[in-house]
Amino acid sequence: MTEIRGLRPEQVRSVAVLTGAGVSAESGVPTFRGEGGLWRNYRAEDLATPQAFRRDPALVWEWYDWRRGLVGGCQPNAAHETLAEMEEAFPDLTLVTQNVDGLHRLAGSRKVLELHGNIWRLRCTRGCRPNWEDRRVPLPAIPPMCPDCGALARPDVVWFGESLPRRELEAAFDAAGRCQLMLVVGTSAVVQPAASLPVMALDRGAYVVEVNPQPTPLSALVDEAIRARAAQALPGWWRAWRAGRSN
Ligand code: OAD
Repeated sequence: MTEIRGLRPEQVRSVAVLTGAGVSAESGVPTFRGEGGLWRNYRAEDLATPQAFRRDPALVWEWYDWRRGLVGGCQPNAAHETLAEMEEAFPDLTLVTQNVDGLHRLAGSRKVLELHGNIWRLRCTRGCRPNWEDRRVPLPAIPPMCPDCGALARPDVVWFGESLPRRELEAAFDAAGRCQLMLVVGTSAVVQPAASLPVMALDRGAYVVEVNPQPTPLSALVDEAIRARAAQALPGWWRAWRAGRSN
């Protein structure tokens, strides 16, 4: 089944995409849950909470420095590239990601809403600089300091217990509410509020396709569940839909 309720891609105006760690797995970026997942080996409460950062900023920064090194050695894969290509094909495609790795932009996607921030950006803990850097470069020091006021800098990511950036979240719900098609790629769909986006799209009548080698709480609700790895499955799925073939 490659047709979206009988529509050709040219007949679809509005598309939303929600991605999670799985979309970057084939690039070599570790996921959070499941085999080899970060939360199998590290405790989120020691490393990814405001309390952990207050307790030991250097330890938290060491961990982010290690993750930046890991991601810095990774390149976008065929799934990121397909999603960037799809942006050109639809008048309104919004890519919402929970990933902080920056690989969607590197692949060429421009309309990206980063719900959980970006590991390459820094932010002043006193708020004088909202964010800076945003480049795949090594940290100036551990812990890094704000170049303006000298206060401690923090990664511009969302930690457990923190709210998501408001503008991005609102835009993500807008996109989920108006899309005709939503692709949900490589997310365990257990972390809120991101996990509500496909549910909202379904409620509004969108056709929802999940791409994930494992079942998730969303699988039973979606119109189509593609049980395969994203970089393997997405390019072929998109090619087949564009060519009007069924597979
Ligand atoms: P998870 O690690 O929870 O889930 C990754 C999902 O990707 C799983 O469902 C896997 O089955 C799937 N997967 C693995 N390899 C894949 C592949 N090659 N292709 C497609 N899917 C694959 O990651 P997220 O759902 O992104 O938040 O986690 C959500 C949030 O929880 C993260 O943003 C992070 C984490 O705690 C914060 O840090 C705030």
